Amino acid sequence: MEIIKDPKKIQELTLNLRCSEKSVSLVPTMGYFHKGHLSLMRWAREHSDIVVVSLFVNPTQFGPNEDLDRYPRDFERDKKMAEEVGVDYLFAPEVDDIYYPDHATWVNVPKLSQYLCGKSRPTHFQGVCTIVLKLFNVVNPNIAVFGEKDFQQLVIIKKMVRDLNVPVKIVGRPTVREPDGLAMSSRNAYLNEKERKEAANIYKGLVKAREWVKNGQTNSETIIAKLTEWFMEHIPSGEIDYIEIVDQENLTPIEEIEDKARLAVAIFLGKARLIDNILLEVKK
Ligand code: PAJ
Repeated sequence: MEIIKDPKKIQELTLNLRCSEKSVSLVPTMGYFHKGHLSLMRWAREHSDIVVVSLFVNPTQFGPNEDLDRYPRDFERDKKMAEEVGVDYLFAPEVDDIYYPDHATWVNVPKLSQYLCGKSRPTHFQGVCTIVLKLFNVVNPNIAVFGEKDFQQLVIIKKMVRDLNVPVKIVGRPTVREPDGLAMSSRNAYLNEKERKEAANIYKGLVKAREWVKNGQTNSETIIAKLTEWFMEHIPSGEIDYIEIVDQENLTPIEEIEDKARLAVAIFLGKARLIDNILLEVKK
């Protein structure tokens, strides 16, 4: 595996690979790898000739009071893990390598960015879209792989790629979980032992809600009220940011579930803000 810092170098290299008919997959990440990241890399390894992983803690997607400075980092460990799953290139630029000091262009998908996480993180998705489009232009992938764990991010990236005619196929992959159900996340490292135990109840609550829907409860307000109560009892150290049931494509709230919907939650727990989501399906 080769480590590349310079955007020009990886751009030239991947352009040449594409000209010689090689398929290139990109897995964009902010590092501190866990099995979720590795599952995306493995999928890419199986489905393309060349696998590029980008590792960049993107400052523009963090709000002023968020965790940019303490975001967990361990480059040596990440390097080893990426190498073990057969990544070809680890693209790891510094902030100054990728953003000009007078960077002035932003990519926005305003409608989809106002819901769910966008309410408490108003500039987050603008930062995500801008860096992801820059990475697409630098790495020239024909496939880019993202996790369903960040469901809103996946929906927004798909829309951006469609609307701007970006020649890349977006692949979404299922959330990888700890044995107790907690969605893997670099931010789980912030949790103490007590918080970590409570955190497992996020997914347990989502599974309960999925059961309620399967058993005929289709009114979102009722489901959200029941789940709020359940979370307050089972995650006493947590504070709910949002619990919402939304349309899977346009992310607008659904009042009465008719077929499929996405239940998405964000919960502050200790120093972490944890997100998770699940598919709800009405039994026909
Ligand atoms: P990061 O949080 O490092 O996540 C990188 C990729 O891994 C994302 O596509 C995310 O959805 C996926 N991922 C995270 N946890 C996962 C899990 N438990 N199971 C499966 N996939 C998981 O998301 C970002 O970085 C950034 O916003 C980025 C897209 C790199 C732009 O800076």
